[in-house]
Amino acid sequence: MVKILLERNVVWARERTEADPGFFKRLKSQQTPEYFWIGCADSRVPANVIAGLDPGEIFVHRNVANLVHSADINCLSVLQFAVDVLKVKHVIVTGHYGCGGVRAAMDGSRHGLIDHWLEPIRELAARHKAELDAIAEEEPRLDRLCELSVESQVSRLAATPIVQDAWARGQDVTLHGLLYSLADGLLRDLGCTHTRPA
Ligand code: CO
Repeated sequence: MVKILLERNVVWARERTEADPGFFKRLKSQQTPEYFWIGCADSRVPANVIAGLDPGEIFVHRNVANLVHSADINCLSVLQFAVDVLKVKHVIVTGHYGCGGVRAAMDGSRHGLIDHWLEPIRELAARHKAELDAIAEEEPRLDRLCELSVESQVSRLAATPIVQDAWARGQDVTLHGLLYSLADGLLRDLGCTHTRPA
């Protein structure tokens, strides 16, 4: 019931104000997040909660399987606002092991519109067929594909005119790829960081 959410919201707002009386007043005037997070829509991967950040500290875009489509006006609009206006320092693509989107891309059956959305994952899997085929078990094979996909999304971000232009004008914005484990709640840095070319 939505009523429960409204009741919980009242409790949350009251506790926030008690802990920090200026909290809402500060956030009302402006947001100055240093981070922009592109993550999976999966309910188990909430950006603020798992990164331990308060409202106002991280700008967020989420979609199924944390993909960066080069013609996705939604993702690109949010990216442009984050980079050009908010001037975030870090753009973070966060995937997660056991991603249902990655699994759906590879299970060989049709699911509807989402099959179009997940097309880059199938293409990526085809490009890395030899490496993936060498992993006998399905779960670790899909987990490896989750990693490859995050690395690929970070590369796509680096190639966008938005990021290219930010770097060209000397703006420090660093791109990162992380993987979240549902099993232990920990984020892992994939080491595919892209920084402004020197
Ligand atoms: Co997912």
